[in-house]
Amino acid sequence: MCGIFGYAGNGDVCKILYQGLKSLEYRGYDSAGMAVVGDKLNFIKDSGTVDDVLTNITFPVNSVGIAHTRWATHGKPNKINAHPHLDEKNKVAVVHNGIIENYKQLKNQLIKKGHIFKSKTDTEVIPHLIEENLSLGNFEAFKKAVAQLKGSYAIACVIEGSNKIYFAKRFSPLVLGVNGDYFLASDIVSFLRWTKQVIFIEENDIGYLEKGNLYIENNGKQVNRRPNEIRWNFEEAAKEGYEHFMLKEIFEQPQAIAQTLADKRLISFSKHMSELDKLVITSAGTSFHAGLALKYVSSLPLEVIIASEFSELYRGGEVLSISQSGETADTLRAVRLAKSLDHKINALVNVVGSTLTRLADKVIYTHAGPEIGVASTKTFTSQLAALFQLNALMEGKTLPEINVNPILKKADEIHSISKTLSKSNDIFYLGRGVNTVTAMEGALKMKELAYLHAEAYPGGELKHGPLALIEESLPVVAICPSDQNRDKMLGNIEEVKSRGAFIIGLGYEKDEELIELSDKFVAMPAVDSSLTPLYYSIPLQMLSYYTAIELKRNPDKPRNLAKSVTVE
Ligand code: G6P
Repeated sequence: MCGIFGYAGNGDVCKILYQGLKSLEYRGYDSAGMAVVGDKLNFIKDSGTVDDVLTNITFPVNSVGIAHTRWATHGKPNKINAHPHLDEKNKVAVVHNGIIENYKQLKNQLIKKGHIFKSKTDTEVIPHLIEENLSLGNFEAFKKAVAQLKGSYAIACVIEGSNKIYFAKRFSPLVLGVNGDYFLASDIVSFLRWTKQVIFIEENDIGYLEKGNLYIENNGKQVNRRPNEIRWNFEEAAKEGYEHFMLKEIFEQPQAIAQTLADKRLISFSKHMSELDKLVITSAGTSFHAGLALKYVSSLPLEVIIASEFSELYRGGEVLSISQSGETADTLRAVRLAKSLDHKINALVNVVGSTLTRLADKVIYTHAGPEIGVASTKTFTSQLAALFQLNALMEGKTLPEINVNPILKKADEIHSISKTLSKSNDIFYLGRGVNTVTAMEGALKMKELAYLHAEAYPGGELKHGPLALIEESLPVVAICPSDQNRDKMLGNIEEVKSRGAFIIGLGYEKDEELIELSDKFVAMPAVDSSLTPLYYSIPLQMLSYYTAIELKRNPDKPRNLAKSVTVE
């Protein structure tokens, strides 16, 4: 994960680095730092958030600079392990996102040559490798260092006495904003306030930028990468009065779903899907749940595999990879492996131009706009909307109108239920059929945001084990729409209630029996059964959000997690 930001232009370098990095904090927030260079190299770094470390920093030189917000992979979050990393003479400063797999080997070689290491990170080998060859010239030294690295990296580097930022990319995201000035970053959102013109740095690109000049080469040859205009705007990526991005994104769901369903490419893509004998869906986290929900409702022969578990065993058919960011390392690894096995790759992605979109043979998009909160919300329901629509189209139908606005009006009611939940240590989520997936997604959100132990089970499996865990006052969130599974779900609710569980029932507003059984009830509108996960996951998002608030957790930045997981 980690966020990288670099700037070369006529503006106030330190201020722009700070502002850009602030919008990358969703990628990591355990330490931060920056390096600004001219005749002298100045740097600062420490553990803490961007605000803790980089508020109101000014340096005497103000030419070009790089900055970093960290999500620790190698070495604890502390000042020494924070980026930038430097050689022992403090001439070369490097920020890095990714993992250098052969760093131990390189470090041992460098130590033998007399280099002194301070940190426990893999990154620190890079400035030392560059410093070794500075006599060849800065860019040659940078290229020689990068050529020795194995693994994944997006690297930005500044060197004392030069006004250039050197950069390289392999398997970790790196994009360039252009408006006369240059903004080098891990994602587009961080420079949207300055420009919508984006150059996507390609795999194995290596180059440098300085005020008014950009040079990139790939495989030893100079390449010319043209800017593309991005449709997102800065306002969409700002909180706009909401306390958290997550809450704003929950409330943006009606629009996100509508925009996604308005894409005509769903029609041609559904035709393509209907011609397949088999589809293998591979994704991570919440995006995996979206794929799993399709398996429950579709008659298409489908396998759904967590991306980090995808292997050579999955042969035949085409692959569909679902991802909000299009940059999740596990997902990209699975897709690259699938490509090597001659699978055709289809992708459902939210971020235009992301790595996954460039690896795929066919791409369709969710049009949810930028999602900043670490836990996916509007992109999940947009993924469900797109997948369910594809399925309906394959069956010669279209989805009924989707109106989730009445659910959003229940925020206060759900907030009050979360006060009870925040007092528990364990929570069970039960569903049946496709709403087993809704339960899984609800439990995932509760774990990641409120740090409470939450387990999801298909109602029928209860009696095969977890029923032993039910005791007095244990909260059970029962997802029980009025569909073909309702009666059996009511039976499962009875089973846990008779053992003392506290029932939070979610179901049709006029379901008297369920209302009677529930200690707390979330009344839902009548919904076509194929759409229930889309509707019912929204109150569960709110429940986790407000429980996190009650427990004084920051829902936008859950501990130990990052939005875009760019390491395996
Ligand atoms: C992280 C995020 C999740 C997300 C998952 C997959 O774990 O915290 O919210 O679902 O990555 O991300 P992707 O961008 O591939 O959908």
